[in-house]
Amino acid sequence: MKALVLVGKNEDLAFQEVEKPQNTDPKDSSGKGSVVVKVKAAALNHRDVWIQKGMYAGIKYPTILGSDGAGETEDGTAVIINPSINWGENPRFQSKKYEILGLPTDGTFAEYIKVPAENIVPKPEHLTFEQAAALPLAGLTAYRALFTRCQIKAGEKVLISGIGGGVALFALQFALAAGCDVWVTSSSGEKIARAVSMGAKGGYNYRTEGWSKTALAETGGFDCVIDSAAGTGFADLIKACAAGARVCFYGGTNGAISGLSPQIVFYKQISIFGSTMGSTQEFNDMVAFVEAHKIVPVVDEVFTLENGNAAMKKMDEGKQFGKLVLSI
Ligand SMILES: NC(=O)c1ccc[n+]([C@@H]2O[C@H](COP(=O)([O-])OP(=O)(O)OC[C@H]3O[C@@H](n4cnc5c(N)ncnc54)[C@H](OP(=O)(O)O)[C@@H]3O)[C@@H](O)[C@H]2O)c1
Repeated sequence: MKALVLVGKNEDLAFQEVEKPQNTDPKDSSGKGSVVVKVKAAALNHRDVWIQKGMYAGIKYPTILGSDGAGETEDGTAVIINPSINWGENPRFQSKKYEILGLPTDGTFAEYIKVPAENIVPKPEHLTFEQAAALPLAGLTAYRALFTRCQIKAGEKVLISGIGGGVALFALQFALAAGCDVWVTSSSGEKIARAVSMGAKGGYNYRTEGWSKTALAETGGFDCVIDSAAGTGFADLIKACAAGARVCFYGGTNGAISGLSPQIVFYKQISIFGSTMGSTQEFNDMVAFVEAHKIVPVVDEVFTLENGNAAMKKMDEGKQFGKLVLSI
């Protein structure tokens, strides 16, 4: 079969012939075992770019990258793949055996993939394979951050930072579907305008000095903030919080947090959470939520598998609005 293979640090992924996975432990009557999925579409996450640049733990060569995928099982069932492997029994945090599909195990940038049987769920019928492939990792991360960690409620004011991001866009769609009033930040006025056209109340450019002061004055402060950048800008997110706010971050694109005012955090009774992807239960709940609200992931562009390096480059440059998908 054909696959896009990570062969070295900072090198293009190699489009090459590799061995098709064999199902040596097929699903048994208790639902355990593995299934082989014929991948129809895969999607990129920033994780794939971090790995390509050597900026990730446990990198090994060669590996087929890709955490997101949708396709068909051998009996023709249309499925999407949960990239969270071995979450474990505790809903609060993942087990020591936890893995994300696409490193160390071979991922979805291939014609076929073998995954644990419990990691597939039927594809929502209202989604194409390309749209379904866009959902898993980013949708799961946004779902846990909003609902499990921050416990958002209808009518609350939610701020999503860096709306150009894949997870951020799902957070926008999910928070709107949950009945929240949502604002966004971005480095791009065009991306803020796109978010407003999707239902956001407004947005702020995080590169504009003092944006958080304006946001606080205009909105009265946010009850929930979802962030992936951390870094020096995190202090501004805290300044824009209402009393009792919950702030959750799942990424550290901008590195270590600095300049945070402890006085604002303790006096406003702010809770700060870290979050990573989610459990099998949360994945299933997320897919059910997407089905119930007929949410359609935003796909920025679809590439062929062969042209996957162009998609990797676009993600690295941050030019996209929505998910970058590979049609296989
Ligand atoms: N822990 C987890 O489970 C998990 C899961 C998914 C992602 N992540 C991490 O979260 C981050 C985003 O991932 P992704 O796949 O959503 O990436 P992505 O689609 O490439 O999104 C990147 C976005 O980050 C935004 N950004 C950059 N600098 C920013 C800043 N200073 N303040 C606010 N936003 C900023 C940009 O938004 P604008 O273009 O709007 O400016 C950019 O579009 C990555 O670091 C990734 O590794 C972690």
